[in-house]
Amino acid sequence: MPERTCNVGFIGCGALMNTQHIQNAHKSPVCTVHTLCDINPAALESTAAKFPPVKTTPDYRTLLADPDVDLVVIAMNPAMHAELALAALDAGKPVYVEKPLGESVDEGLAVARRAAETGLQLAVGFNRRFAPAYLDVKPLLDGREGPLLVYYRIADHERGSRRDTVRLHVEVCHVFDILAWFTASEPVSVYATQGLHNDNTVTVSFADGTAAQVLSSGRSSLEAPKEHLEIVWDHKQVIVTDFIETRFFHVPGMPPLKRYRGRSYLGSPDDHVEAFASKGLDYFLALKKRVSDAWDDKDAGRPFDKPLTEYPANYLGDKGWGFALDEMARAVLERRPAANAGAAEGIRASAVASAALRSIQSGNVERLDPSLWRL
Ligand SMILES: NC(=O)c1ccc[n+]([C@@H]2O[C@H](COP(=O)([O-])OP(=O)(O)OC[C@H]3O[C@@H](n4cnc5c(N)ncnc54)[C@H](O)[C@@H]3O)[C@@H](O)[C@H]2O)c1
Repeated sequence: MPERTCNVGFIGCGALMNTQHIQNAHKSPVCTVHTLCDINPAALESTAAKFPPVKTTPDYRTLLADPDVDLVVIAMNPAMHAELALAALDAGKPVYVEKPLGESVDEGLAVARRAAETGLQLAVGFNRRFAPAYLDVKPLLDGREGPLLVYYRIADHERGSRRDTVRLHVEVCHVFDILAWFTASEPVSVYATQGLHNDNTVTVSFADGTAAQVLSSGRSSLEAPKEHLEIVWDHKQVIVTDFIETRFFHVPGMPPLKRYRGRSYLGSPDDHVEAFASKGLDYFLALKKRVSDAWDDKDAGRPFDKPLTEYPANYLGDKGWGFALDEMARAVLERRPAANAGAAEGIRASAVASAALRSIQSGNVERLDPSLWRL
């Protein structure tokens, strides 16, 4: 354990920072919430009130100029990620930047080159690599005889401005990263189709022969599981649902069913934390149904028996956000490479998303050249 904690500066005090990174750092034995930055005074003030004592500034340059800040976390509009990551590296700060690293492969490459030139650590927020449910699966695949066959569904009820994002770049990039992590192989070709608006199917082929089918939708029901992962290999199979339950079939040493705890959140009911581990998916789906009903009533202007604030601020399964940030903070304190996804992996996910968009236009299988992200 390092002798001191890592002073973390947070740029952007929006939804993700409030529900994950800042409160995870607040609870972490390796992090100190040192400085918060947001151009929105209300967001800055309300976030700072939850994590005293903390410095605040509306200007990210002030945060970057502070010699006491050891690590900068960036989570804002994806269009600003690359610019802010470059500014942080130029200021001599290691960076944990949310996905996507850039809006294009070229933006990601610029950040990767600067990180290499400065020798500073840079992590991309592909937190699923640290999800307890996925960490149980990963070692089962190492040393396998044949390639994987994978199905991954990532489907959500998108609201507001999220409906307007390019889902393949902003959300499905998580899946493109985790597929490469599971296979430990490089994606070599992509074929994608476009349904209504942001709905897609994407087939990704890997150098080792692995084939993955991804189904992505922003028009799913909030009541349904959001993420379903199914992997078949060597006459074995796993099915992971929303990071809460995993079913293992014909996998020596693993139980038929394993359930995972949730995470607790400040100022929010946390009955779900242990209930996820004891009751699993049924409890989770009942909770999702209550939240979905509440949103329906809110959207329709109907009264609801409880305000939305009485629901857990984040009732999702543990997707590894806290462990991912802790690993980066430890790596900074110990001056070693972090186990997180780095710039190359950020570019790779963008390259797969871009190839999927090209495939939709061309109707063809689009080839990928891994030398693009292996700098
Ligand atoms: N890894 C994950 O699981 C996950 C989940 C959700 C979102 N994200 C990523 O996190 C990012 C943020 O998402 P969000 O939902 O929290 O967004 P958000 O809109 O709620 O928050 C963004 C914040 O950045 C602030 N901001 C904008 N310009 C700024 C500037 N120049 N300086 C300082 N602050 C500025 C805004 O005022 C806002 O408070 C997105 O890029 C998204 O892709 C990741």
